[in-house]
Amino acid sequence: MKKTNGKIDDCLSTRNGHLFIENLDTVELIKRYGSPLFVFSEDQIRRNVRRFQKAFQKGWQNGPVKILPAAKANWITAIQRILAEENCGCDIYSPGELSVALEAGFDPQIISVNGVPKDEEHIYKCVKTGVRITIDSEEEVDMIAKATSELDITAKVRLRLKPAISGFIRHTDFSAEGLVPTDIAALVYKGGLSLEKVIEIGQKILKMKNVELVGFHEHHGRHHPSTLYWKEQMKAFARDLGLVCKNLNGYQPEEIDIGGGFPVPRDPFNAMTHYSDPLQLGALHAISKGLKVLGSDIRYKTLAKLIDPIVSKPNQKSAPTVEDYAEVCTSTLQEELLKHGIKTDGLLLQIEPGRAIHGDAGIHLTTVRNIKRLTSPIRWTVIIVDTTEFWFTGGRLEHHLHDYVFANKTEAEMTGKADIDGRSCYGDRLMPTVLVPDVEVGDILALLDTGAYQEVSMNNFNAMPRPASVLVSGNKSSIIRRAEREEEVFIRDVIPEHLFKEEV
Ligand SMILES: Cc1ncc(COP(=O)(O)O)c(C=O)c1O
Repeated sequence: MKKTNGKIDDCLSTRNGHLFIENLDTVELIKRYGSPLFVFSEDQIRRNVRRFQKAFQKGWQNGPVKILPAAKANWITAIQRILAEENCGCDIYSPGELSVALEAGFDPQIISVNGVPKDEEHIYKCVKTGVRITIDSEEEVDMIAKATSELDITAKVRLRLKPAISGFIRHTDFSAEGLVPTDIAALVYKGGLSLEKVIEIGQKILKMKNVELVGFHEHHGRHHPSTLYWKEQMKAFARDLGLVCKNLNGYQPEEIDIGGGFPVPRDPFNAMTHYSDPLQLGALHAISKGLKVLGSDIRYKTLAKLIDPIVSKPNQKSAPTVEDYAEVCTSTLQEELLKHGIKTDGLLLQIEPGRAIHGDAGIHLTTVRNIKRLTSPIRWTVIIVDTTEFWFTGGRLEHHLHDYVFANKTEAEMTGKADIDGRSCYGDRLMPTVLVPDVEVGDILALLDTGAYQEVSMNNFNAMPRPASVLVSGNKSSIIRRAEREEEVFIRDVIPEHLFKEEV
């Protein structure tokens, strides 16, 4: 991790051996609020939004730009309130996220309602509140028509296209299970309608009285960090839009939305999986089997030698900057849309970054509770902390290896190596074989870049109540989601009458 005079990035710094977030000592935060703890920086969220707005607006001068951060990445109400104050729009997926967005005070006209399936009740609420419906299934159209005629109002809608098949073909980062190419991954994993369906539904909507088609949406996703990926995606998106508009008799959109998928600078995405792993492990397995005939002593001694040098490191290469992404997206779109017959004058450009707005605005603090040192048959150290992978499922699914700092020992040399394990009874190998300082029980580990997808994907495995979240604003800290109480873990449970014990 790069540090300059104690500054790690905008919101994080080290002072006298401790990690600070804005002006607060993370060690004091743990004393005050307990461990583990999610912590968010208000200033970093605001900075990230402003930076996106400025960079994209710089490249898109003929029309307005709106940032609609994806609520799924962090739908804590106070966080959404900050974004509403920053004049953002909001990309939402579910009825629950719609409620949060309305509660937070976003202008309904710039709330985009994505997702499938949308049921009748949800659509009715969308039409009534005047939010943008981003259509992703044929079934929605009739439900929207029904709601608009009942309410006698016009609904503004956009059509969501499946990510365009571009010329960028590398293995996608999205699926670490195999070397799936980006074009196939985009088809398999991401939502949207096929081009034929977009045209068919578009033609239908253009004839409708109370439903107005205002534009198109496509979410490309975090398949690759390079700017070349975005260049090729934008080219292909413009090509597909041109084809759609031609088939809609030269229809011109008022707005286009290119979704999200921009990495955070340290980009923990997929760092847990090195593509050479299968080879290394395969070799280890084969050698290990071969050594069996020599007896367990020799086998373990040899294996220990082979295992000893293995160290996992968080990603060491920074992702391109927001300004790089903005430049490539806006210049490519500008050129390619015109080429395919779409006017860009006055065209509203929307983007929906999720991880890039929230990721580096959050850290997760957890305390070392146990250290197990194994000396035979192989050397192995396991540090057990009071958090769990079940409070990181967002990152687990994406094979993240987060960068980290020991919050009370930021100056200590990383002289050891250990597995950092979570507290659940599952595999819970949060960080395999990473470098560590001389660790003691009570030390505090800070996992960085945990502001997106982590807190909102926690679950209650092992009947564990979920930890609290705190917002830091300068010298001030406030609880924005309190810790769950044990009785709340069981709040939905019901014991049927016949299972009640009879009193004797
Ligand atoms: C429609 C849509 N927009 C935006 C996002 C945000 O993506 P990211 O967090 O990678 O920027 C997502 C995430 O899945 C999405 O589905």
